[in-house]
Formats: sequence, structure tokens, C-alpha cells
Amino acid sequence: MPSEESYKVIEGDWKDFRFRRVLPADYEAVQEHVAQNFVRDENTCKLLGWNEDFAADVSLVVSLFLPEGLSFIAEHIPTGKIAGVRITFHHKPDSSFDGVPLKSRNSKILLKLVNEIEEMADVVNKHGIDTWAEFFIASTSPDFRNQGLAGEFYDRSINFLTAEGFKHALVVVTSPYTRKATIKRGFEQQSRIDYENFLDFDEKTPVFKKEDLTSEHYAMVMLKTL
Ligand SMILES: CC(C)(COP(=O)(O)OP(=O)(O)OC[C@H]1O[C@@H](n2cnc3c(N)ncnc32)[C@H](O)[C@@H]1OP(=O)(O)O)[C@@H](O)C(=O)NCCC(=O)NCCS
Repeated sequence: MPSEESYKVIEGDWKDFRFRRVLPADYEAVQEHVAQNFVRDENTCKLLGWNEDFAADVSLVVSLFLPEGLSFIAEHIPTGKIAGVRITFHHKPDSSFDGVPLKSRNSKILLKLVNEIEEMADVVNKHGIDTWAEFFIASTSPDFRNQGLAGEFYDRSINFLTAEGFKHALVVVTSPYTRKATIKRGFEQQSRIDYENFLDFDEKTPVFKKEDLTSEHYAMVMLKTL
């Protein structure tokens, strides 16, 4: 578990929000936040379409990471609501989603995208690293978007992970806002998949229909040396 000294770097009040670690008592609310916000609004999830099994699968993956103690929430102080979450995990050489019992096709497709774009980035060979902190989910509730929360999460998380001794932070970004936030903080692009080129499990059929796509529909692996 991270040290109390490191938690001091990230926890605290900012504007109307309280940044704090996710405690076991918060797990359910955090999973619900992810299911109802991230799975509905993140670009890839939105294209794939929300359904209960999809939301449950993403919540399940999140639940596997929470006990690592690297994830945080921003609570809206006046109402006590979760305004935003930042789910992070320690990527180790043997990290894999393979054994996770996923129910929905959408979550399998989403993880296929993550696996492919990370394989393409190949940071293990290109940068000689086999472990890093991976930002898995950034999510702000619609009521609190565009007030700087995701950016503040990045700043605080970078300081926290540095205090914890991590040397690299990696994230797959799919939103124009997180692209902007990561570039601003010195993350560098490692790979990119344009959604029109992303293929289904048969490696032949495009997953997404061309008419549903815009120039904003692409994902990139971003890496920062801490
Ligand atoms: C992406 C998301 C987390 C951004 O959260 P947020 O708290 O609104 O983000 P911020 O307010 O910190 O904005 C981040 C950057 O994007 C810009 N931005 C945010 N919303 C914007 C908007 N509607 N129009 C233009 N720019 C916007 C901000 O100005 C900021 O840039 P800056 O640091 O140069 O000022 C949020 O929209 C969300 O939860 N979306 C659904 C889930 C998702 O896509 N997650 C990320 C996947 S990689």
C-alpha cells in the first residue's frame, strides 16, 4: 500500500472538492459512478453502446484495481457527491486482463483496443521498462465537467506517483480533453489507433461504422517519465 507521506501529496481540498483515497466503504459508489458516467460517456463506450452487462464488466475490472490504493475520488464538499474518479493500477510484467470473466462483447472489444494499442506502443522494448503506473479511468460527472477536475487529478496523481517511486505513468487517452490534459503535462504519444481501422475479433470486419465516426475518434497511448 502507498505510504501516508505519499497520500499527503494528493489528498486535500481544492475549490469545492475534496480529493481523497478510495476506501473500501466507497467501492460500491465508485463502481456505480464508473458504470453510470464513464461507460455512458467515454467515446469508445458511447460508440459501442451502454448496457448493463457492459457496465458491470467495467465495474468488475475497476474493483480489481481499487485494493491497490492508487485510486482517488474528488468529492463535492457541499453535497458529498462523487464529482470525479481517477482509477490507477500498477502495471507489472505479468499484468493481464485475460483471466477476468467478462460477460459482454463490448467490454471484450474495449479491452482488445487497450491491448492492441499498448502492444503497438511496445514501451517494454522501446523504453526498456516493464513496470509503470497506468491511469485506467478518468471520469468526471456531467455536473462537474470543464471545471478543471481531470487536470487537477493529473497534477496531483503525478506528484503522488512520483512520491511512491514510480518512474513512468502510462495512459490510453480517447477524449480530446484528456489528450489536451496529458500533452500539457509532458506525456508523449507512443501509438495511435484511428477507430475506422480498428478490427473485430475476426481481424477483418471494422468494429465501428464509418458514418458514426468523426475526426475525434482515435485512441493514443501517452507515456510520461516521472
Ligand atoms: C474527459 C473528462 C474526464 C474530462 O473531465 P473534466 O473534469 O471535465 O476535465 P477538465 O475540466 O480538467 O478539462 C481537461 C482539459 O480539457 C478542456 N476541456 C474540458 N471540457 C471542455 C469542453 N467542453 N470544451 C473544450 N475544452 C474542454 C479543459 O479546458 C482542460 O484543458 P486545460 O487544462 O488546457 O484547461 C470528462 O469529460 C469525462 O468524464 N468524460 C467521459 C469519460 C472519458 O472520456 N474519460 C476519459 C477517457 S481518456
